[in-house]
Formats: sequence, C-alpha cells, structure tokens
Amino acid sequence: SNTPVTIIKGDGIGPDIVNAALRILDVLEPGLDYEEVKVGQAALDDGESDVVPQSAIESIERTGLVLKGPVTTPSGKGYRSVNVAMRKHFDLYANVRPTLSMPGTKSRYNDLDIITVRENKGGMYSGEGQTLSADGTRAEALSVITREQCERIIRFAFDMARARGRKKVTLAHKANIMKSTSGLFLAVGREISGEYDDIEHDEVIVDACAMKLVMYPEQFDVIVTTNLFGDIISDLCAGLIGGLGLAPGANIGEDCAMFEAVHGSAPDIAGKNIANPISVVLASALMLDHIGQPDNAARIRKAVRAAVADHDRTTPDLGGDGSTDSFTDAIIERLG
Ligand code: NAI
Ligand code: MG
Repeated sequence: SNTPVTIIKGDGIGPDIVNAALRILDVLEPGLDYEEVKVGQAALDDGESDVVPQSAIESIERTGLVLKGPVTTPSGKGYRSVNVAMRKHFDLYANVRPTLSMPGTKSRYNDLDIITVRENKGGMYSGEGQTLSADGTRAEALSVITREQCERIIRFAFDMARARGRKKVTLAHKANIMKSTSGLFLAVGREISGEYDDIEHDEVIVDACAMKLVMYPEQFDVIVTTNLFGDIISDLCAGLIGGLGLAPGANIGEDCAMFEAVHGSAPDIAGKNIANPISVVLASALMLDHIGQPDNAARIRKAVRAAVADHDRTTPDLGGDGSTDSFTDAIIERLG
C-alpha cells in the first residue's frame, strides 16, 4: 500500500521548487499518496487565523511524514514562526543538514562531506521569553536547555555517525562564556562520547569552529551543536559547497519527520522561475532514505550530480542561465 505524505508547498519560491521535486518523484513512482496542506502566509491568504492551522496539524499527525518548501514568517505581526511551532508540536528534536560537495559548482571546496546535527527545540533559537521594555530600552530573551535534550541530540549524532560509518563527531559549543547552557551541553557530550569507542570525539568552541570550517573544513565529519549555533554553522557549511540552493535538511522526531530546504522563501527571486530546486529535490531523497527507499534516493542524487557536473540548464546561482523548470527537465533526463 502507498505511503501517505503531507506536502507543504510554502511561500515565495517554495511552490516552484516543491513542484520540481514532485515532478522528479512522479518519474520514480515511489508509491506516495500526497496530502497538500497550507501553513504560513499561504494559510493566512486562505483565510486561516493561525500560521499553523488545525488542518495541517491533523494531516501531519496522520502521515508522520512531510515534504516542505520554505515558509515566510510574517515578521512583527504577532504571528509565531511556522518552523519553530512545527518543530515543537511534532517534537522534531534533531535537525540533520548534510553538505556534500558537488563537482561542477563554483565553490571554495570540492571534496567536502560534513553533516551538521542541530538540536532543534531548545536554546536561544526557541524564541522563548522575548521581551522588550515598554520604553524600548531593554530587551531580553530566554535560553533553556535540559539534560534530556542534550542527551537525546548527542546520542542521535553518535548513533547516526555509527550507522553511516562516519569517523568523528565534533561538538561545537561556547561553554567558556555560556557556562550554564553550553556548559551542560559540553558536559553531557563528554559523558556520552565515552559510550562510543568506535567514533572519535572532538570539541571546538563555536567561533573557532566557524574559522576552521572556512580554512580547514576537511577536519570535520559530523558536527553536533545547539539550536542557534547549528542554524549558523549549517548555513556556513552550505556556503562552502556552493550555496543555500544546494542544501537539504531533515527534521526528525520519534513519530514524525519533515524534510525541507535549509534556505528560506527567497522573496528576492520569487516568481521568476530561476530558483534552484536542488535543496528540496535532495530533501525528497532524504525522505526516501527515511522510508526505506535508498535506491530511489540514490537515483535522485546521481541525476542531480550529473546535471550539475554537465552544467546542463543550471539555474543562475550555479552560474547557468537555465530556469527552475528547464533545470528540473535536465535532472529528470538523467534519472536513468
Ligand atoms: P533566504 O534563504 O530565503 O535567501 C537568502 C539568499 O539566498 C537570497 O539571496 C536568495 O535569493 C538565495 N536563495 C535561497 N534559496 C535559493 C534557491 N533555492 N535558489 C537560488 N537562490 C536561493 O533567506 P531570507 O531572505 O533571509 O529569508 C526569506 C524568508 O524565508 C523569511 O521570511 C524567513 O523567515 C524565511 N525562512 C524560512 C525558512 C524555512 O521555511 N525553512 C528558513 C529560513 C528562512
Ligand atoms: Mg537558517
């Protein structure tokens, strides 16, 4: 029987690039049943009062599987962030962001294979306790992380490293300054690393991590870190291999998984049919891996890499003059 999956096309470039991924999936016939729902601006435009409507929640509770385009969070209007809300509601505690070099892209490095594992719910990025004093002179935010959250994400990173035959997990932190939150994360990391004799454990302070990633990225394998640091470090990693248009991400929980691009809705290029679809296309490959279809996932990756290497109708961010549609055609022609 078919696997149900919730589709969120998103805002801005989202519908173009999600449609590209669906065209590619259609060729593979992976036996998926799509349920399309709207969140974010698209939901508000449909007359919903919340950016995460009940209809979307019910669909995701049913399917436990989501392919999602980027969503615009209307800022400064009192709406919550769609992504933060969904990560919390569905307990999507692990955000996995692989950056694998692609031959043929104009990037600084051509042989990188780094996976960022980001704690996806706690810390500063959770948006908790955001207050501004009435006179506008004092701002506050709350950063909370529990031992349980630290243990869960660090174990996830080591287990993933082991399952994928990776050699090293680097824990990125700022325990020298943020002694409580980052300090707890580091302490738990040191405990847990001892349970994994087969995987090398390394620690780096996050600012130095940024510098080392730019200068010596080959030193990194799997990076595990807290929410806000992971947000920044994973974009940095995407920049090392040729940009955000290439970077997929997976949000993983016990009962639910959501696959999406790392980037946002790119309002500057929306509606122009020039967005690079690769991020969401590779996210769909991560989704196929997750539901036990590694062969289909590999076909997608191979076709993407071949189209990029051949510079066939690539989008402007990759130096080509192709469109989202024509580049998707080029990928489809290479699915074999
Ligand atoms: P962005 O990631 O949308 O864009 C940053 C830059 O990268 C822009 O110049 C854009 O044109 C380029 N870019 C991004 N994706 C591309 C692609 N597929 N092909 C070619 N170029 C691409 O970041 P920005 O502008 O800061 O955010 C725009 C909106 O997206 C905001 O409302 C933000 O809240 C939202 N956002 C949503 C995310 C999600 O739904 N997962 C993640 C990040 C931001
Ligand atoms: Mg981000």
